[in-house]
Amino acid sequence: MAEKRQSIHGQWSSRWAFIMAATGSAVGLGNIWRFPYITGEYGGGAFVLMYLACVLLVGIPIMMAEVMLGRRGRQSPINTMSSLSKEEGLNPAWRYLGWMGVVAGFLILSFYSVVAGWTLEYIFHASSGSFLTATDGEIGETFDSLLRDPGQLLAMHTLFMALTVVVVAMGVRSGLERAVKFLMPALFILLLIMVGYAMSTDGFQEGLYYLFYPDWSKLSAEGFLAALGQAFFSLSLGMGAIMVYGSYLPDDASIGHTTVSIALADTVVAIMAGLAIFPLVFAYGLEAGSGPGLIFVTLPIAFGQMPYGQVFGTGFFVLLLFAAWTSSISLLEPAVAWLVENRGIARPKAAAIAGLIAWTLGIGSVLSFNLWQDYRLFDKTYFDIMDYVTSNILLPLGGLLIAVFTAWLMSRKAIVAELGLGEGLVFQVWLFVVRFVAPVGVVVIFLHAIGII
Ligand code: PFF
Repeated sequence: MAEKRQSIHGQWSSRWAFIMAATGSAVGLGNIWRFPYITGEYGGGAFVLMYLACVLLVGIPIMMAEVMLGRRGRQSPINTMSSLSKEEGLNPAWRYLGWMGVVAGFLILSFYSVVAGWTLEYIFHASSGSFLTATDGEIGETFDSLLRDPGQLLAMHTLFMALTVVVVAMGVRSGLERAVKFLMPALFILLLIMVGYAMSTDGFQEGLYYLFYPDWSKLSAEGFLAALGQAFFSLSLGMGAIMVYGSYLPDDASIGHTTVSIALADTVVAIMAGLAIFPLVFAYGLEAGSGPGLIFVTLPIAFGQMPYGQVFGTGFFVLLLFAAWTSSISLLEPAVAWLVENRGIARPKAAAIAGLIAWTLGIGSVLSFNLWQDYRLFDKTYFDIMDYVTSNILLPLGGLLIAVFTAWLMSRKAIVAELGLGEGLVFQVWLFVVRFVAPVGVVVIFLHAIGII
């Protein structure tokens, strides 16, 4: 077995702490904001089934590989890829996989922070009680007028980015770990309450049907790719976030079990968000495919009508903010770990530099809802492009390369030693999936989306 390595950034205090942190990374706006609206855009049940298949056949196996690489390398993804390729006698260009992840992290964080800023804004609206008296139309107008106001969007984006930088500056244990321990369970309970409320509305059956009845005629090649992209986005895969968290994982923790628990928690939260939102969409006669504003126009209507709506509404947006926060820190961490390792920059300063880069890129997203809304490429705004390129291209490509590196190029001895699964059936199945099913799946979905097959 290789000598024991330690990360210079410290380690999670336990396997449980890693599960909480990685779940914190996975569960975020991707589950509660993005999953429902993308599901709505691609027509419901068939998309959801595709999504679940992608999580199971591509996401979970690649997540195991990514955690495994991180723990073996014990450095930032760039240096992990560089030292593992050296160790395995492979081309040093593999470190560019780490670089691609850093770039993807900046791009995702840049628009993620803008959406998290909407959440911040909605905490103020919900707590002021303004949803209680507003009509459905006024609630829609609240969202539209926020988007029209670049100053306010920028202020919230800035505030959220500052929150992210502060936690990353504090480091692995005191910053990242402490933040997630209480917030995840609280979010889960509040979501349960929302599902409970949705069940009491007369849209519940229709919502259930929409979410789980697969109408295959609605599933396009584009929808296929969107499901794959959503699986990567939601599980935080393909850009080194999970890899860098894996590098802080204690040696004796089982990668297989932890990964499955994280993916399961992430999927349950996404489905619950769907169950909470679609019944309301139908009960209030809203449009399922209305896009990124979906939860910001649906849920406030419910908060306006349900008992204790002001309390629940405020609580919901506060917890959503925390879920976004525990994800955004993982988007910044790969770049920060690299700056600390290779440039000898102190963590707080590294966090500030990385945060500033992402913040600057985010200004384009802020403007894409107002001043720049007519600047489009393939009919997509700057915000749409950031989202599309990262979720549907960079993350799946990163995942594909992780699968190839792990299952085709790394020595079997190293994999077996690091995974700790033995060489029995579970290992064989995993290896087969990472070798064949996941890479072929990603390539086929890509080619299908661009019309080649
Ligand atoms: N998984 C996060 C979410 O669902 O909100 C977003 C995310 C975090 C994507 C970290 C990618 C990543 F590396």
